[in-house]
Amino acid sequence: MDPDPIQTLADLERTALARVDKVTREYWAHGAGKNITVRENATAFDQYRLRPRVLRNVSKIDMSTPVLKGLVADFPIGIAPSGWHKMAHPDGEAATAAAARALGSIMGVSMGTVVGASPEDCYSPEDVKAAGGDAAAFFQLYMFNDRKLMSDVLRRIEKAGYRAILLTVDTPYVGKRVSEIRNRPQLPRFLTTINFGTMVADTGSLKIDSSLVWEEILPWLRSTTSLEIWLKGISTAEDAALAVQHGVDGIVVSNHGGRQLDLCVPALDALPEVVAAVQGKIPVHVDGGVRRGEDVFRALALGADFVWIGRPALWGLACGGQQGVERMLTILREELKLCMGLAGCASLKEVTPACLRLVGSSAKL
Ligand SMILES: Cc1cc2nc3c(=O)[nH]c(=O)nc-3n(C[C@H](O)[C@H](O)[C@H](O)COP(=O)(O)O)c2cc1C
Repeated sequence: MDPDPIQTLADLERTALARVDKVTREYWAHGAGKNITVRENATAFDQYRLRPRVLRNVSKIDMSTPVLKGLVADFPIGIAPSGWHKMAHPDGEAATAAAARALGSIMGVSMGTVVGASPEDCYSPEDVKAAGGDAAAFFQLYMFNDRKLMSDVLRRIEKAGYRAILLTVDTPYVGKRVSEIRNRPQLPRFLTTINFGTMVADTGSLKIDSSLVWEEILPWLRSTTSLEIWLKGISTAEDAALAVQHGVDGIVVSNHGGRQLDLCVPALDALPEVVAAVQGKIPVHVDGGVRRGEDVFRALALGADFVWIGRPALWGLACGGQQGVERMLTILREELKLCMGLAGCASLKEVTPACLRLVGSSAKL
């Protein structure tokens, strides 16, 4: 039998992008402006080389890690929220969630499952929760300007059994995604029926609230939901310190996969200053450009507690639904495990800055 042609996420990306039409391909691949941040999120990892230690008994490698109170993931990789999984596969978000559950991973479920969704177009938060069980732990929130609608959404996701909200804070406006603007007339029907995101401007009925400030929104969320409150889209030490000060439960260092502010600091480069500012008081997660187990390792070594991946889940979905997402997660998990073993780390707490060296420098970090 020939070996499986999909051995890496690069193989998966090539295969997936060849299967989908141009509109979908560009919707997934591109970001804001000239896609500089999309590219640099990925290339930032290669500034770092590994400093392997030897003779450290790596016969058993423990990758399990706590994520939320009472929830442990089998390995430190989760699926970041992204909208409209039915573009990739008819089983949509339900297949993604089932894959996360099967592998002992977790998923952030996009608000794209709520607003204006109709059953044939999109799975509901309740459907995704049923498919994902404990793995469907985080529900991603965009704050729209209708607070009544937002409190209804919060009540609904609480009732559905989600454990935490992931408030996306890097989107007071939708970034200038040139290919989305160009391709919009050809978007599939189910996108036009969802009164959400880039389509909001078309329908005019809902807008992202661009007036949010720390002092108002966090108390409002606290008084409206009992779920854990996490912020997604932190890129600076200043905002990380404010998140701690305002009692946020955790943060995700992220620039939305380069889809919002082009020329933003690559997520991996923002990570060290955020980790230093947080001083271990709350968990720090990261996403953006993670494409191999060695990338996960480098993010963990720079202080991330957990790593999320966005686009690779969509590639997996396009290559066989649930099975494709499972394959993607398995590739990353096995690459991370091998990297830890070869670097001499039997557990995640051994993955520290001392495992890394900057290219061109002779000192460990
Ligand atoms: C097609 C697509 C749709 C996305 N939709 C959302 C969304 O609805 N909410 C959100 O917070 N982030 C969204 N994101 C951003 C991801 O959660 C994540 O931050 C990003 O994809 C990580 O970068 P990566 O794709 O390089 O792994 C989306 C990303 C992509 C590629």
